[in-house]
Amino acid sequence: MGNRLEDQDLRAMGHAAVDWAANYCDGLRDRPLVRRMTAAEVRGLLDRELPDEGCEFGELMRTVDDVVREFSRHNGHPRFFGYVASPGIAVATAASVIEAAMNVNVTSWRSGAVAAELEKLTVAWLRQMIGYPDVGMGLLVSGGSMANLCGLAAARSAKGNGAVYASQETHFSVKKAARLLAMGPVRLVPLDAKLRMDVVALERMVREDRAAGLAPAVVVASAGTAGTGAVDRLDEIARVCRSEGLWLHADGAYGALAAMAPSVSQLFAGLGEADSVSLDPHKWLYLPVGIGCVLYRDAGTARAAFGETADYIKVVGMEQDEAFAYWDYGPELSRPFRALPLWMLIRSVGVNALAGAIEENMACARYFADLVACTEDVEMLCPVGLSIFCFRYRPRGFAGDLDALNEKVMLRLQRGGSSYVSNTSVNGRFTLRGCVLNYRTTRRDMEVLLEDVREAGRSVLEDLGAG
Ligand SMILES: Cc1ncc(COP(=O)(O)O)c(C=O)c1O
Repeated sequence: MGNRLEDQDLRAMGHAAVDWAANYCDGLRDRPLVRRMTAAEVRGLLDRELPDEGCEFGELMRTVDDVVREFSRHNGHPRFFGYVASPGIAVATAASVIEAAMNVNVTSWRSGAVAAELEKLTVAWLRQMIGYPDVGMGLLVSGGSMANLCGLAAARSAKGNGAVYASQETHFSVKKAARLLAMGPVRLVPLDAKLRMDVVALERMVREDRAAGLAPAVVVASAGTAGTGAVDRLDEIARVCRSEGLWLHADGAYGALAAMAPSVSQLFAGLGEADSVSLDPHKWLYLPVGIGCVLYRDAGTARAAFGETADYIKVVGMEQDEAFAYWDYGPELSRPFRALPLWMLIRSVGVNALAGAIEENMACARYFADLVACTEDVEMLCPVGLSIFCFRYRPRGFAGDLDALNEKVMLRLQRGGSSYVSNTSVNGRFTLRGCVLNYRTTRRDMEVLLEDVREAGRSVLEDLGAG
């Protein structure tokens, strides 16, 4: 009897998997976005017994077809507008096969010489894409939350564990990072009329806090909030940080890569002044989940936060370039070859195509706002921020609770399977929120979304007996 582990036929399985993936992507637009299900239903479809013996690959693919595909939400669908979700992209699917086959563990240069050099190269490219100076160092991490944690850890090593200032719309990962690092308190700065951090309020809070004996340490600016896409006034915040001696961390997990798009690039003018920056290739570079990036202006601050060693891992007999270890700059030791899909994407399509796709995503969001302006039963709740659009259903003459109505509209829409938006709140109001982050999305999709919203609204009203 052969060895089940060694005898696996990669060629046959790989062809089947790649064919499956290509068919999946080809059929995405025509498939319902999500189907209604319960956790118990999904559990019931999976063999639950720990298998003593294996099965044929074909049997696994049948479960992939019947359960994994059928019961998953399809983030690559052109009308999936929920959260900040990238669709994935073909070249990265191909890269994932190579990545898994080689299984490079990019702990350090020693462990993956080419992977480390590709990571340095792609991080330098990311810097150029967002207009960040060629200083310090950066590394690829699992995503924006991890990048925010890294940025704050570096800030803490430079400035101590004092107060962290962020706008009321800051991403929750910032608060989580500050808590994990025992920094604090987190002081939430009010918003201005455009839902950005109110810089005058920031300056006042910093001074008052200092006078009251608190130690201000860090300002986290949002280069695109997850809620509304507002970009904080980075240059103004950088000025405050300079004059008050504070660390500036810019959370550009959602928005920073839009700096490549000419129509909004001026909003990111101050990004280059940040001491640390988070950005996410697994958002607006359309890559699959698991590829974020943190940039540090001064590599020494990151080393002070993360540098650690042990006898069993010490790098010996290497020159400085080759002695380089990623574990000195972030929390992870074992790290996947994240630079491979990133490098393959940028090399294969080029920056112009990526900037163009981002520009088109934002144009789609603005187009939706234009459509809404001509629609009497839907209204925008704030200006379009980058590619995020916030709105609600508001039928004429409706005297009931608009928040409750819109909650129902959202659920109906989500369960309908044609268009998917998520929710947030804007000025205390329940808000339907969409984010265009998919190169497949067209203006026609925005028209379909609006039709779907109005249809969902009408049917909810009918159910309420008010239609
Ligand atoms: C502004 C912002 N910061 C941080 C994050 C967290 O990123 P991740 O989900 O990659 O951890 C997000 C996610 O949407 C975000 O939009």
